[in-house]
Amino acid sequence: MLKSWVLITLALCSGGYAAAEEGEIPLLQSGADIHNTDSLQRGARNFMNYCSGCHSLKYVRYNRLAADLNIPEAELAPNLMFTSDKVVDTINSAMPKDSESWFGKQPPDLSLMARARGVDYLYSFLKGFYVDKTRPWGVNNLYLPSAAMPHVLQSLQGRQKPVFKNEPDDRGSARMVLVGVEAMTPGAMKPEEYDQFVRDIANFLDYAGEPIKAKRESMGVFITLFLLVFFVFAYLLKKEYWKDIH
Ligand code: HEC
Repeated sequence: MLKSWVLITLALCSGGYAAAEEGEIPLLQSGADIHNTDSLQRGARNFMNYCSGCHSLKYVRYNRLAADLNIPEAELAPNLMFTSDKVVDTINSAMPKDSESWFGKQPPDLSLMARARGVDYLYSFLKGFYVDKTRPWGVNNLYLPSAAMPHVLQSLQGRQKPVFKNEPDDRGSARMVLVGVEAMTPGAMKPEEYDQFVRDIANFLDYAGEPIKAKRESMGVFITLFLLVFFVFAYLLKKEYWKDIH
């Protein structure tokens, strides 16, 4: 009995969910940590500079962001607010409504993207662009075939080329299968720097998907401990009450 309650409580509080797997190519592990405020602050800065031109975060307000990430409100406007001037506003993109005709697809709102796809997907996606001359922007993505998004971080990451493997199909005839990417030309960042850069963005988008997540997780641990201690006392009390009857 005790054991099953503890297990149920732990299961309820752990709160994690498995990242969705896209296609056949396994996702990379992001290593993002939502409790790392420095990483979230850097991620917010990177997002505002490189993504908010096209993507909104329509469920996140600037002042909430400032409070959660320990950013003084005075620093918000000059450093992070490029698409709005009121701290109570939600984060809009700079895109006009007809941007669909520019890309073939409307850049989606990214508020809930981390919840829909998982933080590892976001990290992998941002590391998955490769040169593909057949695409309108000259790039494709390992994790989102025929992606309509240009590789906006190419100057930082450098260019990657696709890696194909020869694999027989069901009927035994050979075909080329895309299995990965590899560096082709270097960018302004070293590979580890770029990894950290996109890990911070993925982490920030994970925060944006559920601003209370870090608090909920630490609260979960606290409540589990509380219940465990409480259980000991409840059990001792029960023994005390029943000792004369048994
Ligand atoms: C120039 C405009 C533009 C910029 C800047 C841009 N994106 Fe995109 N993004 C797009 C478009 C267009 C799509 C739709 C792609 C599709 O569905 O094929 C998209 C789609 C996405 C998706 C959804 C992928 C999926 O699986 O559906 C993610 C995640 C994303 N972008 C993240 C980012 C991040 C993070 C940044 C900043 C580093 C960024 N984008 C910057 C245009 C942009």
